[in-house]
Amino acid sequence: MRSFEKLLLENKAWAHEKVEEDPDYFNRLAKIQTPEFLWIGCSDSRVPANEITGTQPGEIFVQRNIANMVVHTDFNLLSVLEYAVEHLHVKHIIVCGHYGCGGVKAAMGHHNLGIINKWVRNIKDVYRIHEQELLEIEEEEERVNRMVELNVQEQVLNLAKTSIVQKAWKYDQRPHLHGWVYGLNNGILKPICDMHPGTHIDHIYEYDDL
Ligand code: CO
Repeated sequence: MRSFEKLLLENKAWAHEKVEEDPDYFNRLAKIQTPEFLWIGCSDSRVPANEITGTQPGEIFVQRNIANMVVHTDFNLLSVLEYAVEHLHVKHIIVCGHYGCGGVKAAMGHHNLGIINKWVRNIKDVYRIHEQELLEIEEEEERVNRMVELNVQEQVLNLAKTSIVQKAWKYDQRPHLHGWVYGLNNGILKPICDMHPGTHIDHIYEYDDL
Protein backbone atom coordinates (compact mmCIF):
# COMPACT_ATOMS: atom_id res chain seq x y z
CA MET A 1 0.00 0.00 0.00
CA ARG A 2 1.27 3.46 -0.86
CA SER A 3 1.59 5.98 1.99
CA PHE A 4 -1.31 8.20 0.93
CA GLU A 5 -3.63 5.20 0.55
CA LYS A 6 -3.14 4.48 4.23
CA LEU A 7 -4.58 7.92 4.99
CA LEU A 8 -7.78 7.15 3.08
CA LEU A 9 -8.10 3.79 4.79
CA GLU A 10 -7.55 5.28 8.23
CA ASN A 11 -10.15 7.91 7.41
CA LYS A 12 -12.76 5.25 6.65
CA ALA A 13 -12.04 3.53 9.94
CA TRP A 14 -12.23 6.82 11.83
CA ALA A 15 -15.54 7.89 10.25
CA HIS A 16 -16.99 4.44 10.95
CA GLU A 17 -15.90 4.61 14.59
CA LYS A 18 -17.43 8.07 15.06
CA VAL A 19 -20.81 6.93 13.72
CA GLU A 20 -20.67 3.82 15.91
CA GLU A 21 -20.21 6.03 18.98
CA ASP A 22 -22.78 8.61 17.94
CA PRO A 23 -25.01 7.95 14.88
CA ASP A 24 -25.87 11.68 14.60
CA TYR A 25 -22.24 12.89 14.83
CA PHE A 26 -21.69 14.04 11.24
CA ASN A 27 -25.26 15.24 10.68
CA ARG A 28 -24.89 17.57 13.64
CA LEU A 29 -21.42 18.84 12.64
CA ALA A 30 -22.41 19.36 9.01
CA LYS A 31 -25.17 21.80 9.97
CA ILE A 32 -23.32 24.35 12.02
CA GLN A 33 -19.91 25.28 13.41
CA THR A 34 -19.72 27.33 16.60
CA PRO A 35 -16.07 27.29 17.67
CA GLU A 36 -15.14 29.36 20.71
CA PHE A 37 -11.49 29.60 19.67
CA LEU A 38 -9.37 30.83 16.78
CA TRP A 39 -5.95 29.20 16.69
CA ILE A 40 -3.06 30.82 14.85
CA GLY A 41 -0.25 28.28 14.88
CA CYS A 42 2.89 27.19 13.05
CA SER A 43 2.55 24.90 10.01
CA ASP A 44 5.00 22.50 11.72
CA SER A 45 3.52 18.98 11.51
CA ARG A 46 4.36 18.31 15.15
CA VAL A 47 1.96 20.92 16.52
CA PRO A 48 -1.59 19.80 15.60
CA ALA A 49 -4.03 22.18 17.29
CA ASN A 50 -6.85 19.74 18.03
CA GLU A 51 -4.70 16.87 19.18
CA ILE A 52 -2.56 18.78 21.69
CA THR A 53 -5.57 20.58 23.20
CA GLY A 54 -7.85 17.54 23.34
CA THR A 55 -10.48 19.30 21.24
CA GLN A 56 -12.85 17.84 18.66
CA PRO A 57 -13.82 18.86 15.12
CA GLY A 58 -15.99 21.97 15.43
CA GLU A 59 -14.24 23.40 18.49
CA ILE A 60 -11.31 25.36 17.02
CA PHE A 61 -11.11 27.54 13.89
CA VAL A 62 -7.56 27.18 12.62
CA GLN A 63 -5.03 29.23 10.66
CA ARG A 64 -1.46 27.99 10.34
CA ASN A 65 1.59 29.43 8.62
CA ILE A 66 5.37 29.35 9.01
CA ALA A 67 6.18 30.65 12.52
CA ASN A 68 2.57 31.57 13.43
CA MET A 69 2.75 35.08 12.06
CA VAL A 70 0.11 37.82 12.10
CA VAL A 71 1.12 39.87 9.08
CA HIS A 72 -1.12 42.87 8.50
CA THR A 73 -0.99 42.58 4.70
CA ASP A 74 -1.73 38.84 4.66
CA PHE A 75 -5.24 38.55 3.21
CA ASN A 76 -5.43 34.90 4.12
CA LEU A 77 -4.84 35.63 7.82
CA LEU A 78 -7.04 38.73 7.76
CA SER A 79 -9.93 36.90 6.11
CA VAL A 80 -9.72 34.11 8.67
CA LEU A 81 -9.52 36.69 11.47
CA GLU A 82 -12.49 38.72 10.25
CA TYR A 83 -14.63 35.63 9.70
CA ALA A 84 -13.73 34.22 13.13
CA VAL A 85 -14.35 37.49 14.98
CA GLU A 86 -17.32 38.96 13.12
CA HIS A 87 -19.22 35.86 12.02
CA LEU A 88 -18.21 33.03 14.33
CA HIS A 89 -17.94 35.40 17.32
CA VAL A 90 -14.95 33.56 18.82
CA LYS A 91 -14.24 34.43 22.46
CA HIS A 92 -10.54 33.63 22.41
CA ILE A 93 -7.71 33.91 19.89
CA ILE A 94 -4.63 31.85 20.60
CA VAL A 95 -1.30 32.52 18.91
CA CYS A 96 0.72 29.37 19.46
CA GLY A 97 4.44 29.14 18.75
CA HIS A 98 6.73 26.26 19.54
CA TYR A 99 10.26 25.93 20.84
CA GLY A 100 12.81 24.95 18.19
CA CYS A 101 10.74 26.60 15.43
CA GLY A 102 12.49 26.26 12.05
CA GLY A 103 10.99 29.51 10.78
CA VAL A 104 12.37 31.45 13.73
CA LYS A 105 15.78 29.74 13.36
CA ALA A 106 15.83 30.69 9.66
CA ALA A 107 15.06 34.30 10.55
CA MET A 108 18.01 34.37 12.95
CA GLY A 109 20.35 33.05 10.25
CA HIS A 110 21.65 34.45 6.99
CA HIS A 111 20.82 31.84 4.33
CA ASN A 112 19.11 32.95 1.15
CA LEU A 113 15.91 30.89 1.09
CA GLY A 114 14.40 32.30 -2.08
CA ILE A 115 10.73 33.16 -1.86
CA ILE A 116 10.72 32.17 1.83
CA ASN A 117 12.94 35.23 2.49
CA LYS A 118 9.84 37.39 2.00
CA TRP A 119 7.96 35.65 4.77
CA VAL A 120 10.94 35.31 7.11
CA ARG A 121 11.62 39.04 6.79
CA ASN A 122 8.60 39.62 9.05
CA ILE A 123 10.29 37.52 11.74
CA LYS A 124 13.59 39.37 11.29
CA ASP A 125 11.69 42.59 12.01
CA VAL A 126 10.64 41.10 15.37
CA TYR A 127 14.29 40.17 16.05
CA ARG A 128 15.40 43.74 15.46
CA ILE A 129 12.97 45.07 18.07
CA HIS A 130 14.35 42.67 20.70
CA GLU A 131 17.97 42.41 19.56
CA GLN A 132 19.49 43.80 22.77
CA GLU A 133 17.82 41.21 24.99
CA LEU A 134 18.58 38.36 22.58
CA LEU A 135 22.27 39.19 22.18
CA GLU A 136 22.72 38.84 25.94
CA ILE A 137 21.79 35.14 25.75
CA GLU A 138 24.97 33.18 24.99
CA GLU A 139 23.59 29.71 24.35
CA GLU A 140 22.17 29.45 20.83
CA GLU A 141 19.23 27.13 21.51
CA GLU A 142 18.21 29.27 24.47
CA ARG A 143 18.40 32.39 22.28
CA VAL A 144 16.18 30.81 19.61
CA ASN A 145 13.66 29.72 22.24
CA ARG A 146 13.50 33.19 23.78
CA MET A 147 12.98 34.60 20.29
CA VAL A 148 10.08 32.12 19.85
CA GLU A 149 8.45 33.59 22.99
CA LEU A 150 9.08 37.19 21.92
CA ASN A 151 7.69 36.44 18.46
CA VAL A 152 4.45 35.06 19.93
CA GLN A 153 4.18 38.16 22.10
CA GLU A 154 4.69 40.40 19.06
CA GLN A 155 2.07 38.53 17.00
CA VAL A 156 -0.49 38.91 19.82
CA LEU A 157 0.27 42.64 19.70
CA ASN A 158 -0.21 42.57 15.94
CA LEU A 159 -3.70 41.15 16.47
CA ALA A 160 -4.54 44.01 18.83
CA LYS A 161 -3.35 46.50 16.21
CA THR A 162 -6.02 45.36 13.71
CA SER A 163 -9.26 47.30 13.33
CA ILE A 164 -11.05 43.92 13.40
CA VAL A 165 -9.95 43.17 16.98
CA GLN A 166 -10.25 46.80 18.15
CA LYS A 167 -13.83 46.98 16.88
CA ALA A 168 -14.84 43.74 18.62
CA TRP A 169 -13.16 44.94 21.83
CA LYS A 170 -15.11 48.20 21.70
CA TYR A 171 -18.57 46.83 20.94
CA ASP A 172 -18.51 43.25 22.22
CA GLN A 173 -15.79 43.04 24.92
CA ARG A 174 -14.13 40.10 23.18
CA PRO A 175 -11.98 38.35 22.02
CA HIS A 176 -9.42 37.63 24.68
CA LEU A 177 -5.96 37.25 23.09
CA HIS A 178 -3.49 34.61 24.29
CA GLY A 179 0.15 33.88 23.44
CA TRP A 180 1.30 30.31 24.11
CA VAL A 181 4.43 28.31 23.31
CA TYR A 182 4.39 24.54 22.83
CA GLY A 183 7.28 22.33 23.94
CA LEU A 184 8.10 19.72 21.28
CA ASN A 185 10.07 17.77 23.89
CA ASN A 186 7.39 17.58 26.59
CA GLY A 187 4.06 18.29 24.87
CA ILE A 188 3.25 21.14 27.26
CA LEU A 189 1.70 24.48 26.29
CA LYS A 190 3.23 27.42 28.19
CA PRO A 191 1.22 30.67 28.44
CA ILE A 192 3.51 33.62 27.62
CA CYS A 193 1.23 36.64 27.51
CA ASP A 194 -2.39 37.68 27.18
CA MET A 195 -4.44 40.75 26.31
CA HIS A 196 -8.01 41.22 27.49
CA PRO A 197 -10.48 43.46 25.66
CA GLY A 198 -9.58 47.11 26.18
CA THR A 199 -5.91 46.54 26.96
CA HIS A 200 -3.96 49.69 26.18
CA ILE A 201 -1.84 49.54 23.03
CA ASP A 202 0.51 52.13 21.56
CA HIS A 203 -1.67 55.11 20.70
CA ILE A 204 -0.41 55.33 17.13
CA TYR A 205 -2.15 52.01 16.34
CA GLU A 206 -5.54 53.00 17.79
CA TYR A 207 -8.52 53.79 15.55
CA ASP A 208 -10.95 56.32 17.01
CA ASP A 209 -13.76 56.01 14.44
CA LEU A 210 -14.60 52.30 14.54
CO1 CO B 1 7.57 26.39 13.56
